[in-house]
Amino acid sequence: MPMEPLFHEIFNSLPQQGPGSDACTRRAFAAISGLPPRPKILDLGCGTGRPTLALAALTAGEIVALDNNRAALERLAAKVEAAGLHGRVRLVERDVAALDFAPASFDVVWCEGAIFLVGFENGLRAWRELVPPGGALVVSEVAWIRDDPPEGARRFFASVYPAMAKDQENLAKIAAAGLELLEHFVMPAEAWWTDFYTPLEQRVGALRAPLAADRAAQELLDGLQAEVDVYREFSAWYGSVFYVLRRPR
Ligand SMILES: C[S@@+](CC[C@H](N)C(=O)[O-])C[C@H]1O[C@@H](n2cnc3c(N)ncnc32)[C@H](O)[C@@H]1O
Repeated sequence: MPMEPLFHEIFNSLPQQGPGSDACTRRAFAAISGLPPRPKILDLGCGTGRPTLALAALTAGEIVALDNNRAALERLAAKVEAAGLHGRVRLVERDVAALDFAPASFDVVWCEGAIFLVGFENGLRAWRELVPPGGALVVSEVAWIRDDPPEGARRFFASVYPAMAKDQENLAKIAAAGLELLEHFVMPAEAWWTDFYTPLEQRVGALRAPLAADRAAQELLDGLQAEVDVYREFSAWYGSVFYVLRRPR
């Protein structure tokens, strides 16, 4: 059995597909100033749209929510419809590495947990062009937040995300990309547990028995459990960091 459908089925059943919370989205959004009354926002790698809907609640603007996973977009479409937001939220199925929006099409480009797909520095340089001078680029990214992580943490990330940088290195990349830093914070542990790792761990546990005979599925579940266990043990050394940035005027 190919594992990608199972992976998406598990992740799309969660309230969100990465660390985050409405409180963190609010805090990051509050750091932006000078937006028009109805800002145009691009939410990249929106998943099933927890950040999308938080942004819709924070603004009267129009949001383009983009992901390449059709099943996630279908779930988001149902939420958008239920919330009566279909006039303000447009869903786009596309590869985040193949955007073709005109320069300065948006007031804000937002991306929670998906800039790693194109690389932090590439993403900054490409996406800054999508906002005008004075526009905002807001991303969250998993980064080392303390020096000298223990061997267990280093080994895990060397295999799953070798490009993971130190927070200080990301700040240097931001400056090198010519972006101003408006706000910068590490998400609290609740942002990982409440709507992400706690339901993920429950889902992994519930799927063990029904998929007992499927070795590839068990390996996928082992990998997901390992990710949760690594955060439980080593969260003092890494975190999901919000970077609220502005393209200089
Ligand atoms: C870590 S999740 C973050 C989801 C959402 N922003 C959130 O915070 O809940 C990353 C998202 O990127 C999407 N994704 C993965 N590869 C992609 C690609 N090449 N183009 C567009 N989206 C992609 C996944 O489907 C997933 O929804």
